Amino acid sequence: MIEHRGEYEKMFRLEGQLWWYRILHERVAATIKNYFGERRDIQILDAGCGTGGLLDFLRKLSYKNLNGIDGSTDAVAFCHERGLPVVLVNLNELAAFRPDERYDVIVCNDVFCYFEDDDLLNLVKALAHRLKPDGLLISNNNAFNVFRGEHDLAVGSGRRFVQSDFNQLMPDAGLRIRKATYWSFILSPLILAIRQWQSWQLRSGWIKPENVQSDVYLPGAWLNETLYAIVSAEAKILPRTPFGSSLFIVSKPV
Ligand SMILES: C[S@@+](CC[C@H](N)C(=O)[O-])C[C@H]1O[C@@H](n2cnc3c(N)ncnc32)[C@H](O)[C@@H]1O
Repeated sequence: MIEHRGEYEKMFRLEGQLWWYRILHERVAATIKNYFGERRDIQILDAGCGTGGLLDFLRKLSYKNLNGIDGSTDAVAFCHERGLPVVLVNLNELAAFRPDERYDVIVCNDVFCYFEDDDLLNLVKALAHRLKPDGLLISNNNAFNVFRGEHDLAVGSGRRFVQSDFNQLMPDAGLRIRKATYWSFILSPLILAIRQWQSWQLRSGWIKPENVQSDVYLPGAWLNETLYAIVSAEAKILPRTPFGSSLFIVSKPV
């Protein structure tokens, strides 16, 4: 769990504008559309929804049955400020949350990094159990340890993933991977250089662990729009890429 209210506050303020969140939300929406067409009545759960940026985005696209859960009182309070139906739930106790409800789509973005192996398997099993037979689990996760940097420390992220981590995990949880891609491939040299520089500064004591900052800040408007244009073009032109700081996975029940 993220320990600092300040990180939720930044997320709440910036996730509608920042290039990274915008393209992630669009990737989720495009995936939902790909499987469910123009239907807006499907049941969607955002598990570990943070401050509700994705739910807010989907609400603007006229999705009607949106639900969110998160284990942070700060995150839930920010969601309530947006008028979103979000409930405080520890994902380790998902089974106790409205046990009879099943969802067409469950999104669980950038949450798995807070779970150790056994707990992660239990979490993915619990999420799979909540899907309707033709349901969809969408999960974005941070990828490749070479991208570890200040951001990971700031948000308390314990681990990064590669696709092979999920090749066994998903079937063990009763799911089959339908799509997996790393992103952003095009920006990866730039992100890698920044993260490696941060790691070096952390190792050499130039940045103190208590002063670390996440990547959740708005660069200048021009740079933000340029980065958005690049990742947006990549998502259209290169639907699958072999490298990047995030891994986007779509799975369905076996
Ligand atoms: C990096 S944020 C991602 C938030 C959101 N999914 C997004 O994409 O912006 C991780 C979220 O997972 C939540 N979280 C972490 N561990 C959790 C747990 N055991 N139960 C419920 N929520 C948890 C945190 O409170 C935080 O809101």
